[in-house]
Amino acid sequence: MVMREAVVWRWSHARHHSDTIIVGRDAEIALQRPLSVPGLILKFFNMPTFFKYFRSVLRHAAGKMTAEERTFIPETESGKLFLRARIYLAIYLGVIALAIATRSIIPLLFIGLPNIYGAWLMVVYGLTQHAGLAENVLDHRLNTRTVYMNPINRYLYWNMGYHIEHHMFPMVPYYNLPKLHELVKAYMPPAYNGLIAAYREIIPTLRRVAKDPNYYFERPLPPSPPQSETRQASQVIVSEAAPDADGWVEVCNLSLLLPGEVLRFEHRGKSYAIYRTWIGQLFASDDRCTHGNAHLSEGFLRGACIECPKHNGRFDIRTGAVLRSPPRVALKTYEARERDGRVLLKVG
Ligand code: FES
Repeated sequence: MVMREAVVWRWSHARHHSDTIIVGRDAEIALQRPLSVPGLILKFFNMPTFFKYFRSVLRHAAGKMTAEERTFIPETESGKLFLRARIYLAIYLGVIALAIATRSIIPLLFIGLPNIYGAWLMVVYGLTQHAGLAENVLDHRLNTRTVYMNPINRYLYWNMGYHIEHHMFPMVPYYNLPKLHELVKAYMPPAYNGLIAAYREIIPTLRRVAKDPNYYFERPLPPSPPQSETRQASQVIVSEAAPDADGWVEVCNLSLLLPGEVLRFEHRGKSYAIYRTWIGQLFASDDRCTHGNAHLSEGFLRGACIECPKHNGRFDIRTGAVLRSPPRVALKTYEARERDGRVLLKVG
């Protein structure tokens, strides 16, 4: 039996999918670095998670959340979180009372203790997901494994062996993951042929990680699909025009860039994001988020703040300053202005 608080898990898992193995953001990194080998062995008996879980239930039953939980659980969910923790607590106290009243361990063998003596298989499956792979990368093919499994393991594990596919497209129901795998496998690193094949890589990798916390196993990636098979962003303007003597280049008619919108401008191999605020001011920055491989021109512009579509990092478009993590590096900004109904950019 899995003991997890539903509200916490729902939101931490959403974060796990959007920020997979991004240190400081992903609240579900199973193996934290530096790696402790005794700690890894204890995981098979759900230690120390078992005791952390009860501390967490008690904290929530008392109406408190940690600072970390507040970063991924919306404030509006707190009432539900606290109520359910009180219900869980009542159930556990009831089971303990029943065990004492009947002088029998049997109630605890059904609720509570299975999480210690029955946790090992979940760990065997779970470690195949990300253990020993790269941290802080955005390509799920580099931080996640897909492992072929026999029908029994597939049934018990709900097809989660197709874990790269599950991470990339979490809305695909588990029973359709094999079909999805067939569609995308040409663009994936080779899947592991069973649990043993996966552990032939995981065990030596973790032995090295225990000695060198920076080590990770690098997966070979197949070549990228041809350009014709990839999705093109809609608002893209491409220009090879030479800048004038002062470095200004024409982007487009002002009418193409509505207030409150942002577009992508490709100029001589460089990508810029051009912004027009609701009060008509023009700003420009690099289009690529400093955190990862995401186009800010596909993000959300609010006032003078652009929010990255990938992990919701925020930047001030006037200065490039980071307004919200995970980005840590400021964005490079450029001058943009309007002249005679045309948008101009000073390229750098
Ligand atoms: Fe992560 Fe932009 S790519 S916040």
